[in-house]
Amino acid sequence: MQIFGVDIGGSGIKGAPVDLDRGDLAEERYKVLTPHPATPEAVADGVKEVVGHFGWTGPVGITFPGVVTGGSTIRTAANVDKSWIDTDARALFGERLDGLPITVLNDADAAGVAEMQFGAGRDRRGTVFLLTFGTGIGSALFMDGLLVPNTELGHLELNGHDAEKHASTKAKEDHDLSWEHWAHRVQKYLAHLEMLFSPELFIIGGGVSRKAQKFLPLIEGIRAEIVPAQLQNNAGIVGAAMRAAKAE
Ligand code: BGC
Repeated sequence: MQIFGVDIGGSGIKGAPVDLDRGDLAEERYKVLTPHPATPEAVADGVKEVVGHFGWTGPVGITFPGVVTGGSTIRTAANVDKSWIDTDARALFGERLDGLPITVLNDADAAGVAEMQFGAGRDRRGTVFLLTFGTGIGSALFMDGLLVPNTELGHLELNGHDAEKHASTKAKEDHDLSWEHWAHRVQKYLAHLEMLFSPELFIIGGGVSRKAQKFLPLIEGIRAEIVPAQLQNNAGIVGAAMRAAKAE
């Protein structure tokens, strides 16, 4: 079965039909740049362009980089335009996509759902975190494979800062941090999560997971196993489609 997945990120809006049996993209994904300001109307135009590129007419799962309740309502918008707050995203996208059935969920939750089924979290029980490092830090928490949605642990306080301002890959780029320096910050962040949740496994996702060898070996003193995500940049698209399939 195929369902369409869209991942709305800080830099791009990416989407493709997803083969749900294989947990992979059925076609090469299509990407448009995220508009700035990333208002609901402008982002909805981008989503329409991505879905329209494939002439898709079935259900669509869409990720959003903020808290999403009930598969529809946006509650926070840390790195996108604040006018998203309280937007009924299902109605917005549904209208723009000529009535296609829409499911919306948090971006890290979507990536986590995909990794738990098809990637680094397959068959893993106990407490597992999928963390995405990018413009912000996204978190998805699983207990025996079951998602606790909207955990937002990228906003824990770290060294007196919002953790994602200190340890995201954007922070690495903005402050021109070396891999060693950045890995040290990520280590402190993981230690904090470990103190609170004692997970069995941390799965490190986001674009930087492709460069895991540059920083994972530098992280020390964490009890939990730490592994890179396997679906890398497609996890959000796959997870969004999986969630939309479930809503059918
Ligand atoms: C948002 C989260 C999101 C993460 C990654 C954070 O700023 O609050 O909802 O998952 O960024 O995009």
